[in-house]
Amino acid sequence: MNHTPLTLVIFGATGDLARRKLFPALLDLHCAGHLPAEYRIVGFAKSALSTEAFRRMVRSALDAHSHTHPEEVAAFVARAEYVAGDFTDPKSYGTLSAFLAAQDRAVGACTNKLFYLAVPPRFYDPLFQNLADSGLSVGCVGGGAGWTRLVVEKPFGEDLHTAQALERKLSLLFKEEQIFRIDHYLGKSALENILAFRFANSIFEPIWNRNYVARIEVRILESRGMDGRGAFYDGVGQLRDVGQNHLLQMLALIAMEDPGAYEAGAVRARRAEVMAALRLRKGGRRVKGQYASYRTEDHVPCDSNTETYFLLEAELDNSRWRGTPVVLESGKKAGQTLSEIVLHFKEIPSCMCPENLSGARRNLLRFRIQPDPATGLRLWARKPSYGMEIEERYVEFPFVPTGRYRMHDAYEKLLLDIIEGNQTLFLSSKEVEYSWRFLMPVLEQWQKEEPVIYEDGNLPAFPAQSR
Ligand code: BG6
Repeated sequence: MNHTPLTLVIFGATGDLARRKLFPALLDLHCAGHLPAEYRIVGFAKSALSTEAFRRMVRSALDAHSHTHPEEVAAFVARAEYVAGDFTDPKSYGTLSAFLAAQDRAVGACTNKLFYLAVPPRFYDPLFQNLADSGLSVGCVGGGAGWTRLVVEKPFGEDLHTAQALERKLSLLFKEEQIFRIDHYLGKSALENILAFRFANSIFEPIWNRNYVARIEVRILESRGMDGRGAFYDGVGQLRDVGQNHLLQMLALIAMEDPGAYEAGAVRARRAEVMAALRLRKGGRRVKGQYASYRTEDHVPCDSNTETYFLLEAELDNSRWRGTPVVLESGKKAGQTLSEIVLHFKEIPSCMCPENLSGARRNLLRFRIQPDPATGLRLWARKPSYGMEIEERYVEFPFVPTGRYRMHDAYEKLLLDIIEGNQTLFLSSKEVEYSWRFLMPVLEQWQKEEPVIYEDGNLPAFPAQSR
C-alpha cells in the first residue's frame, strides 16, 4: 500500500452515485485497511452545506446500506470535509484549491489527490478546464511529490462527436496515466473471472470461435424502472446508459484475444480490438422498446421517445468470430434482474438425441454476473433407465468467495485500483471511441423512431431460443 497521505475530492458529493456507491465503497476500503493512515474525503457540490451537515448526510447514506463495521462509521465520517461551489465557476476552484493547500499544510505533506467526477456529463467540459486553469490538475502549488488522478464516470460523451471533443480536451489538459474512465461493470468480480476461466483452462480455447459457437448473447435485464432518475435518464436512454459501456465490456471479455499478461496496456488493447471489430449485423434485428408507464415517470416528457429497452444483432469482423451473431439486449422493467453472457454452441450433425429434442440439443455455457454469480454448462447425458434415452443436465458452480475473503463491491475494487494506479479495469480512449463508432448508425436511426411499448416484464423481442 502507498502510505502517502491521500485527499479524495468528490465532485457531486451530495448526488445519488456518491451516496449509494462511493461512500459505502470507501467505508469498506477504510475498514479493510486499504486507505493510507492519513486520508481525507472532500465533498464538493453546489448545496450550501456546512461540513457538519455534510457529515450527517454521509452518515445517513451509510446507514441506508448494510455494512459490516458499524463501529467504524464515526471514524470514517470524521474524515469528511465539505466545500460548496459551482462546477462552472472558476472562482469556486480557487476556493477549493486554497482549501486543499491548507489541508496539505495541516498534514505537512503534498498529499496524493484523487478527483472523482460524480456529476452529470454536461459539467465535464468546464470541470476539466477549471481543474487545469486552477492548477489543480498538476498537483501541489509550489511543487511536491503527490500524484493527481482524475476519475470520469460514464456516459463519456453522448455520441462519437461529443466523445471525441471531450477526449481532445482531456488529453490536452491531463496525461493519460492520470485519467481513469470508469465503467463499474469491469469492477465486478464475476466479470473479471471470465478471463481467468478462458485463459487458465486449456479445454475451451479450441472451441472458442466461429466454428463451434452458434451465437453469443449478452444481456442486462433490470426489474427496476426510473427510481427517481427520470431527468437524467430521459436524455440518455438504455443504449447509452448501459449498452455503450457495460454490455460492450462484457462482450469484450468474452470475445477478446489472450492478452498474454494481466496488465493494463495488454488488456486494454485486446478489449479495444473487440470494439473496433464490432459491426451491426446486416439484416439483423434492431428493437427499440419503452415500458408502458415510462412517460408518466417524474421528469419524463409525456411524448418521450427514449428507449428503456433495446435488442441489437451485431457481429465481429475478425477471423475468430466472423459470422457468429452477437445479440445485445438490455431493458428496464424487464420483470427480472439478470446480467449474463451466454454462448450457444452449434449442434452436432447427428446425435443419439430423441427427435423431440432436435433443435434444443446444443451445449450452452452461461456466465451469470448477477444475481448469484455462477458459471453454468448445459450438457446432454444418458438418462439412467433401460433404454438409451438422452436428457439435459445443467451443471453450475457458483462464484462465491472462499475463506475469509468477502465479495467486494465493484466500486470498492475500482477505487482501490485508482489509488494504486492500476488502469487495467478502466477504459482507454480507443475503447470509448470504437464503442460510439459502432453505435452511431443506431443512434441516428432511433433519433426519431417511435419505440415499441411493452408492459412490465413482457419484453418486446426476447431471443426465444435462449431459455
Ligand atoms: C448504471 C446505469 O451504470 O448501471 C443504471 O446508469 C443501471 O441505469 C446500472 O441500472 C446497473 O448496474 P448494476 O451494477 O446495478 O447492475
